[in-house]
Order: sequence, then C-alpha cells, then structure tokens
Amino acid sequence: MNKSVALIGFMGSGKATVGPLLSTLLGIPFVDLDEAVVERAEMSVSEVFEAEGESGWRRREREALVELAADTPLILGCGGGVVLDPENRRTLRERYATVYLAASTDTLVERLADTAGRPLLDVPEPKKQIERLSAQRLPVYEAAADITIVTDGRTPPEIAGEIADLL
Ligand code: S3P
Repeated sequence: MNKSVALIGFMGSGKATVGPLLSTLLGIPFVDLDEAVVERAEMSVSEVFEAEGESGWRRREREALVELAADTPLILGCGGGVVLDPENRRTLRERYATVYLAASTDTLVERLADTAGRPLLDVPEPKKQIERLSAQRLPVYEAAADITIVTDGRTPPEIAGEIADLL
C-alpha cells in the first residue's frame, strides 16, 4: 500500500476512531485533519468558527489538506465538510484512496448526543441540523468515495479490518 487513505463522512461517522486502528493495521501514520488545522491556527475548532466564521474554517482546512497531500503516505481523518469544496474533492481523488464511513441518520444522532466542539451543531435543534446537513451531504460523500463502508451496528475494529481487506 503506497497510496494515502482518506476517511470521509459526516461528523460522528467514526473517522477519528477507525483511523488510528487502520493506521496500526496498515503501518501508515494517522493524521486528523481537524487537529492539523487547529495546530496551525493555534485556535480550537470553535474559536476559528467564532473568529472567522465557517468560511475561515474552510479556507484553513483547504490549505492544510494541500500541505498534507504533499507529504508521505498517511491515513487522513477528514472533517465532515471537506468534500464540500471542489478543490478538496480533486485533491482527494488525485492523492488518496477515499473511504466513506456511512451511517444512518439515527446512528449519527445517537453518536452526536454530545455536540461540544462541533460549532455546526451548536444550534437550538441539533437533531434537525444533523438530519438536514447529512441529507444534503450524502450524495457528495457517495460521489467522492472509492469505497463505501456501512458502519451502523459495527465496531471500529470490524470496520478498520474490512477497510484493510478491501484496499
Ligand atoms: C465539520 C466537521 C468537523 C469539523 C468542523 C466542521 C463539518 O469535523 O471539521 O466542525 O462541516 O461537518 P468532524 O467530522 O471530524 O467532527
């Protein structure tokens, strides 16, 4: 395996949990794109959204993705909104085997009970926001994916094992 792997999917789809397990299985380092942005910005996700809005976050995310894509192979856990940007989709297509961790809306709502650190869900009705955003994004995730893994009712080690087998 000499190609990098990008994990995409909605918030709560398991990218940051499955990524390190896959990293161990494949012997390729794991990088969390949100963390890379936060490190570079020296601000938390919520602080960036507060100071610069979603557009500031997207700009920083795009820059970090480009920088990381130039490096050696890695397993990249992408923020849920990475695929919204056409330039990011091109970067993913060119440089990564892209794996979509799919989950039903019910599963996402359950996993996202704690909305701390997720400014997009810091709204009066987070469940409605999850339903709305996940429905909007689902076709984009599907179109960007080389491989789709349904994660409902499955453990992170099972999911990581299946990805490793499929790559
Ligand atoms: C976002 C998802 C978050 C983070 C930011 C925006 C999104 O990452 O990048 O809050 O637009 O879906 P996770 O998917 O890792 O929670």
